[in-house]
Amino acid sequence: MRTQVAIIGGGPSGLLLALLLRRRGIDTVVLERRTRAHVLGRIRAGVLERGFAALMHEAGIGARMEREGFLHEGTNIAFGDEMFRIDFRRLAGHGVLVYGQTEVTRDLYEAHDAAGSRIVFEVEEVAIEGADTDTPAVAFRTREGVRRLACDYVAGCDGFHGVSRRSIPADRRREYEKLYPFGWLGVLSETPPVNDELIYANSERGFALCSMRNASLSRYYIQVPLSDSAEAWSDTAFWDELRRRLPAPVAEALVTGPSIEKSIAPLRSFVCEPMRWGRLLLCGDAAHIVPPTGAKGLNTAASDVHYLYHALVRACLEGDEEGLERYSERALARIWKTERFSWWMTMLLHRFPDQGSFELRMQQAELAFLAESEAAQKVLAENYVGLPY
Ligand code: APR
Ligand code: PHB
Repeated sequence: MRTQVAIIGGGPSGLLLALLLRRRGIDTVVLERRTRAHVLGRIRAGVLERGFAALMHEAGIGARMEREGFLHEGTNIAFGDEMFRIDFRRLAGHGVLVYGQTEVTRDLYEAHDAAGSRIVFEVEEVAIEGADTDTPAVAFRTREGVRRLACDYVAGCDGFHGVSRRSIPADRRREYEKLYPFGWLGVLSETPPVNDELIYANSERGFALCSMRNASLSRYYIQVPLSDSAEAWSDTAFWDELRRRLPAPVAEALVTGPSIEKSIAPLRSFVCEPMRWGRLLLCGDAAHIVPPTGAKGLNTAASDVHYLYHALVRACLEGDEEGLERYSERALARIWKTERFSWWMTMLLHRFPDQGSFELRMQQAELAFLAESEAAQKVLAENYVGLPY
């Protein structure tokens, strides 16, 4: 088997990159460890920056997103019983689009079906060979046996637990990591959202977030200790705790119902440098993770896809490798700023087990400043809607 770009991982990064390249006549093969149903069943955030939406259009799959997505021109921050709004449109010039990642992934798979792309599911024992040579390849096992995919470049889009990052020799990469001492318990329910925009709440009982997928599907989160298990939280206990963390008028307006999904996700900040080793290029969660507080997971993946797509087009169509040589530097320059923003939102809005009274006062002062200062709100808005590529 041979292709120009071997793509490891059929999540949003790998699928979007493959579709964009295909539209420029560059051949790709996507290797995905799980089944398609599994990939489509994952529930993740769905706040899209303008840059992400532009890539969806460029890939030719923006129509449903435009039709069914919701434009959010602001967000709300609550602390205690107070709540204030950050006006994205006024402060940053535009808003964000709320459109679930599940929908994004579905649009991507449908476009690949229509294009007749080569996507191999349930691959095992994926191994990258010769990434530091001019003739790299990816070996993998399917039910038919072991196969070898020769290629010009390998895009490592296989998420945090994939093999790509670990294929860069340990003495050639540096990893930066911060683990937060709590997780997010998330509930999806077929209820109307409590508010037409998101609410991020810092309460004395811990963080809470009111989000949504559409007019009849809500997504809520509360900060919980990492030792908690989702099964131990009954729906009633979840709704009671969520209500306690929201300003009284919001809590009163909350419509509750049975959960259709409930899970706990840990919070982590992580960056691997560099994102390129020879002909292997890391992209998305394979290279970095942000805590979900700024809704940046999918959006950081998109900015990598943007830089990598343009670099591969130049390399494959014009024989110019400058974009690939500078890919890591360009992608990381934006990633670090987004890491900073996600870390800052996380530090501002959560309660920390070891938080002393001084740290608590600092958090309160920062929230009060944010509530009053247009300059501070502008910084949040500019980052939330997405920094330029
Ligand atoms: N071989 C092949 N595929 C693999 C391997 C492997 N060894 N390891 C992991 N994968 C697949 C996973 O099954 C998954 O479908 O790679 C894909 C990686 O997808 P994501 O984890 O979604 O990462 P990415 O595409 O970079 O998306 C980034 O979207 O899913 C969210 O939380 C994620 O918000 C982040 C953004
Ligand atoms: C979500 O809707 O799942 C969501 C929204 C915003 C976040 C995180 C998650 O910051």
